[in-house]
Amino acid sequence: MAKYLLNINGKQNEIEVDPSTPILWVLRDHLKLNGTKYGCGIAMCGACTIHLEGIAVRSCQVTVSMVGNQKITTIEGLSENGDHPIQKAWIEHDVPQCGYCQSGQIMTASAFLKNNTNPSDDEIEAAMHGNICRCGTYTRIKAAIKTAAKSS
Ligand code: FES
Ligand code: FES
Repeated sequence: MAKYLLNINGKQNEIEVDPSTPILWVLRDHLKLNGTKYGCGIAMCGACTIHLEGIAVRSCQVTVSMVGNQKITTIEGLSENGDHPIQKAWIEHDVPQCGYCQSGQIMTASAFLKNNTNPSDDEIEAAMHGNICRCGTYTRIKAAIKTAAKSS
């Protein structure tokens, strides 16, 4: 066990865990930030995507000992009132079905749009291809990203 001070969604959180604990479990089990989902645990599905210093990463693959002072953002901290352009576009396009994959989709899409405000279809597909949706909401995800790109 070791103590860590983690900056998550703008707040400092002190936790004591084994250094090899994936951040996914720190978020879900220790801090009750359950918006980040567990899908595969092996970097294949994207359900666990968060931002580390603004970059989309898979929290099932990042151990607590790897984080240091880097800022973590989860779906709970993406915007104060759920009004990030991506979140608004998701509502406009009624994207989710079961919803399980959607926080990961939104975290990947929001990190992507920070660096590309006018993406082509191919660029969107390339950016999102690692986020799997068993419900098949891909068409609406793409449309929502285009809408969010126009408004951001
Ligand atoms: S749970 Fe992390 S990529 Fe699937
Ligand atoms: S909305 Fe059900 S898995 Fe994507």
